[in-house]
Amino acid sequence: MASQARIRAAAEPDLEAMTGLIARLFALEPDFHFDPVRVRHGLALLLAREETAALWVAELDGRVIGLCTAQIVISTAEGGPVAWLEDLVVSPDQRGRGIGRLLLESVANWATRRGLTRLQLLADHGNEAALSFYRRMGWQLTRMICLRLQPGE
Ligand SMILES: CC(C)(COP(=O)(O)OP(=O)(O)OC[C@H]1O[C@@H](n2cnc3c(N)ncnc32)[C@H](O)[C@@H]1OP(=O)(O)O)[C@@H](O)C(=O)NCCC(=O)NCCS
Repeated sequence: MASQARIRAAAEPDLEAMTGLIARLFALEPDFHFDPVRVRHGLALLLAREETAALWVAELDGRVIGLCTAQIVISTAEGGPVAWLEDLVVSPDQRGRGIGRLLLESVANWATRRGLTRLQLLADHGNEAALSFYRRMGWQLTRMICLRLQPGE
């Protein structure tokens, strides 16, 4: 029953709860080490980027039970702005109740309003549950893979 959950723009008082949810997310993604100070700082930076980023929380009975963040970049292929969906997580006790769908709908509506022509995201190979969820939500796998370099090391 997602009807009682409310999706709204995230704000500074949500940062602690959001950081706690991202700990849950990173536990599923071995590529990322969870550091609460860094995560909180990253979320605060996103909140300050009103023009190029957006953050949503799902709230139920005054409790933050889910979040999603997105950031705009320019795609040369599209010849215009697209967005990366950076974080999406629902509290374990609230999964399977339509909250993830509501959060993705908020992202899609925002993308449409902003004239973004593509949404994209990275997911862990082994996160079958998330990959099934995204498939169900109409997202398609691509041939691209992710590479990274830590400059200066
Ligand atoms: C992935 C996640 C965000 C989905 O959120 P959720 O609130 O549980 O999903 P919903 O209840 O909104 O499900 C939406 C649809 O996807 C389907 N779905 C959800 N999880 C699924 C799964 N594991 N397998 C198959 N379908 C699934 C639902 O059945 C539903 O379909 P329907 O509306 O047609 O009935 C949530 O499970 C989560 O937080 N997982 C851990 C963090 C994570 O992996 N995030 C993604 C990182 S890339």
